Amino acid sequence: MARHPVGGNWFVIEVRDLTKKFTVKKRKPGFVGSLVSLFSTHSEEMTAVDAVNFAIGRGDLVGYLGPNGAGKSTTIKMLTGILVPTSGQVLVDGIDPQQDRRAVARKIGVVFGQKTQLWWDLPVEESFDLLRAVYRIPRKEFQERLDFFIELLHMKDFLSQQTRKLSLGQRMRADLAASLLHRPPILFLDEPTIGLDILTRDIVRKFIKEINEQEKITILLTTHDIQDIEYLARRLILLDRGKVHYDGGIHEFVQRYAAEKVLTIQVDPPCGASFFTGLGYEVLSAASDRNFEIRLGAEETPALLIEQLTEKGIRIDEINMRKRDLGDTLKLMYSNNRNVEL
Ligand SMILES: Nc1ncnc2c1ncn2[C@@H]1O[C@H](COP(=O)(O)OP(=O)(O)OP(=O)(O)O)[C@@H](O)[C@H]1O
Ligand SMILES: [Mg+2]
Repeated sequence: MARHPVGGNWFVIEVRDLTKKFTVKKRKPGFVGSLVSLFSTHSEEMTAVDAVNFAIGRGDLVGYLGPNGAGKSTTIKMLTGILVPTSGQVLVDGIDPQQDRRAVARKIGVVFGQKTQLWWDLPVEESFDLLRAVYRIPRKEFQERLDFFIELLHMKDFLSQQTRKLSLGQRMRADLAASLLHRPPILFLDEPTIGLDILTRDIVRKFIKEINEQEKITILLTTHDIQDIEYLARRLILLDRGKVHYDGGIHEFVQRYAAEKVLTIQVDPPCGASFFTGLGYEVLSAASDRNFEIRLGAEETPALLIEQLTEKGIRIDEINMRKRDLGDTLKLMYSNNRNVEL
């Protein structure tokens, strides 16, 4: 695979026709079914990542998004050499992780929000020291870097604690620092803000932005947090059922739908969502049988809907209109009907 310059930079992450299939055992439903499955297992193949293509330039910060099960973590595992692709190619700073996993390990940092990379029974500072030895980082350089992280990530208070005794927020900060001690040019973050309180989330977000801007570290970020995306990502890659549905600027993505509006409405007496769909409206969400979010086109106003409700003797308790934002658009994409054109 050739490496192409982007505005004078090289692509540092390249993925071509990347595919991962898993074989999953299918069990027959019910108790008898599970007994039958003990003796005869029926396997099926599922495609978690389906011919995915993208390339990321040096210093970019890309949001890799998609609903649960879209294939995001599977992609990251192939990029980091944890999983072997079924077909297709991966290059990380020009290296194929399957050919030379060690060389790739020096180039990348990885944080999986769901699981720590630190030694469970060791105090955090000893884990850091082990990493210093593993990556052969000169002591002075190591100490400077660590001090910088301790300050930025507010880690002083828990350095001597064993990893297994850390709170989730402390563990995540320690993991972030650990992933960057050896100064990798590329960082993979798979849900680094999952389960964090608002203050810790803020610290982590600012940290990610700072290292991307100051050190030009290329970052591929997976998150389900809209604010993370808005604050951090300049480009989005949207994955759904293993396929890329959008790859481009976040600004362009939001602009594409900015003219559309979302009407939030509370009615009395309750009416089902079908009342609105029957009138030709698209219901974005139904929090209850009284509270709905309705999609309005660029040219539409709520006047007609208000008239239609009044005609049916349905009172409007609350009504509110806002421009469609990133969260609304993602919600549409993630929803089951998937009726948004991306
Ligand atoms: N080791 C495995 N064996 C079988 N199936 C797997 C395996 N790992 C992942 N899958 C399946 O592949 C699909 C993609 O999973 P993946 O973890 O990549 O999703 P994701 O986009 O990271 O989702 P989430 O947002 O929930 O983390 C899912 O259907 C999952 O069940
Ligand atoms: Mg995942």
